[in-house]
Amino acid sequence: MPELILVDKQYQEHIALITINRPKELNALNLQVMSEIRDALKELDDDDSVRVVILTGNERAFAAGADIKQMAGKSAVDMLLIDQFTTWDQIRKTKKPIIAAVSGFALGGGCELCMTCDMIIASETAQFGQPEIKIGVMPGAGGTQRLPRAVGKAKAMEMVLTGRFISADEALQAGLINKVVPVDSYMTEAVRLAQSIAVQSPIAVQLAKESVLKAYEMPLQESLAFERKNFYMLFATEDQKEGMSAFVEKRKPDFKGR
Ligand code: HXC
Repeated sequence: MPELILVDKQYQEHIALITINRPKELNALNLQVMSEIRDALKELDDDDSVRVVILTGNERAFAAGADIKQMAGKSAVDMLLIDQFTTWDQIRKTKKPIIAAVSGFALGGGCELCMTCDMIIASETAQFGQPEIKIGVMPGAGGTQRLPRAVGKAKAMEMVLTGRFISADEALQAGLINKVVPVDSYMTEAVRLAQSIAVQSPIAVQLAKESVLKAYEMPLQESLAFERKNFYMLFATEDQKEGMSAFVEKRKPDFKGR
């Protein structure tokens, strides 16, 4: 049983919720938290009743970064042997869409974790930042790579080199997040987004997510070929027949994930 996260497999129909639960430490991401998130996502990925996962913290903090107290005394060799980034790679490979529902601090590893998710809904109190520079290091879980892809080089460079936090509104304008809503409705808004994905064909959603992520990983010629193959593959699904028949028959499709 996880100790530092809460997992609700049936938070809503087809929607699971993972809540990081170290409130006193502002949800600092120690190794145990990250392993528990990894294990929960693997289990939810394997469960056909789940179609979308929401990852959240609490109102004050999504996560204030990797656990500085746990890292402070470590040597480079300790860090290499701990090999925490394999866990992050496994999280990144989750097939189902993950929505980060962010309120309060999303800093350092916390900002990197929400960028590892597929979409971000933020409360207007959310603050995003990569403050590692202020403690003598730099981002290590994708911050120097995903942030420039999301907000552009100039803003990413400023955030990484000065540690400045950006507000939810600035993050929205910069393209880092999907939507900003009042603090009392960020969970409702994340659920609304999750529901609008959960009604689609789960196989189409999985292959579409995989294809969008290739835009960051492959040269265009190869990612276009990858996309085309996933597109063709969907014509082997019952959901494709159902979706197109439903359109022609002017009714709502009922996707089964087959
Ligand atoms: C360990 C942390 C923590 C962290 C907060 N806490 N952030 N513990 N690691 N990242 C603990 C504090 O020590 C404190 O514990 C309690 O949470 C409340 O925090 P306060 O500082 O008292 O709160 P506040 O004054 O409101 O300031 C909030 C804050 C500040 C601005 C978020 O806590 C802060 O700057 N935190 C560190 C942010 C950061 O540098 N993140 C990047 C980490 S490096 P006590 O016991 O004193 O009450 C990183 C690298 C990622 O993420 C690499 C890949 C994994």
